[in-house]
Amino acid sequence: MSEIVDKIREDLDGAVNNAKSESELENFRVEFLGKKGKITSLLKEMGKLSDEEKRSFGSEVNELKTYAANLISKRQVELKKQELQKEIDETKEFDISLPPNLESGSYHPITLVLRQCAEIFKSMGFTIEDYGEVVTDYECFESLNVPKFHPARDMQDTLYLTNGELLKTQTSAGQNAIYKKYKDALINEGKTIKAIFPGRCFRNESLDACHENTFFQMEGVMVGKNISIANLIYSMKIMLIEVFNDKNLKVRLRPGFFPFVEPGFELDCSCRICGGKGCPSCKHGGWLELCPCGMIHPNVLKEGGIDPEEYMGFAFGLGLDRLVMMKYGVNDIRDLNGGNLNFLSQFTEDK
Ligand code: DAH
Repeated sequence: MSEIVDKIREDLDGAVNNAKSESELENFRVEFLGKKGKITSLLKEMGKLSDEEKRSFGSEVNELKTYAANLISKRQVELKKQELQKEIDETKEFDISLPPNLESGSYHPITLVLRQCAEIFKSMGFTIEDYGEVVTDYECFESLNVPKFHPARDMQDTLYLTNGELLKTQTSAGQNAIYKKYKDALINEGKTIKAIFPGRCFRNESLDACHENTFFQMEGVMVGKNISIANLIYSMKIMLIEVFNDKNLKVRLRPGFFPFVEPGFELDCSCRICGGKGCPSCKHGGWLELCPCGMIHPNVLKEGGIDPEEYMGFAFGLGLDRLVMMKYGVNDIRDLNGGNLNFLSQFTEDK
C-alpha cells in the first residue's frame, strides 16, 4: 500500500508546484483532498486491511494529508505574490504626480499663526513655555499688581471654579511663574529672561463679531539689566513684519492702562487693507490696534523675586484671534470656535 501513497505524493508535488494560478491550485486541492479526492479515497481502502496494516497505513495517509494541506497553502502564498507583482507590472496608468488625498485634515488658523509666531520668537532667543488653563487668583491678579477688589478686575469679569481657582482670563497669569523659574539664571548667571507663553483664555463675554468667551493670547516677556522700550518696539516690529510678510509695515505706541505695566501702551500697526492711507477698516485713521504692552511694573518684578532697582523689562499680550483675523481677512471672531470644517480647512501654512 505504501507504493500507492508514494505515487500520490509524487503526483501531488508535480501538480501543486506547477499550478499556474490560484484557481488551478484549487482544482488540485479538490482532486487530492476533496470528499472524493485521491487521498480521501485511500481511507476507503482501509476496510480490506488487517488491524495492524490499518494502523500503519492510517498514519501514513494522515501524514500525507497534512503534507498536502501545507504544500497547497505554501503554493497559494507564492501565487498570490506573483499575481500581485504581475498586476503592478501591467498597470501603466499609475501617476505619481497626482495630488495627495485632499480630504486629509488641516490645522486650525490659530495653530498656524501661533506656530509661526513661536518660530519667530524662538529665532530671537525666546523660550516657548506652556501654562495651565486653571490658575489661582494670585497668579491671574494679585501677583500682577491687581489686588482683591481692584476695579481693574471688572474688565475681565471672571469665570471662577467652586474651589476658588479660575479659568485664566489672560496669559499674563503665567508671568509670575516665569520670573520665579528664571530669576536665578538672571541674577546669578547674568542671563536675560526671554519667554513667550501662548495659551487659551476665558472671559464672561456677550458674543458678537469681535468678542468671544474663549480666545487665545500670546504673552511675552523680556527682563534684564538694560531692557528698554526700544527692545519692545524692535521685537514686536520684527514679529509683525514676518507674520504679515510686509517689510514696510509700521508700528506706533499709544498710552494705555494696565495695572501690571508702567508705562503701558497699545501697539498699533499700519492698516493691512489701505497701507496707512485711511479706509473703512481702520475707521479712516490708517492704524489698527494690535497688541497691549508696556514696561513691567516694579511691583510685578518684586513679586517674582526680581529686584526692580536692578532689572527691568517689557511684557506684551498679543491677541492671537485678532492677528488671525487680520492676517487672513476673517471678519467674525465666532468663526474661529464655530467648528465649521468648510471654513476651518481653508487655511494653509506659509511656505
Ligand atoms: N493681559 C492683558 C489683557 O488681557 C493684556 C496685556 C496688556 C498683557 C499689557 C501684557 C501687557 O503683558 O504688558 O487685557
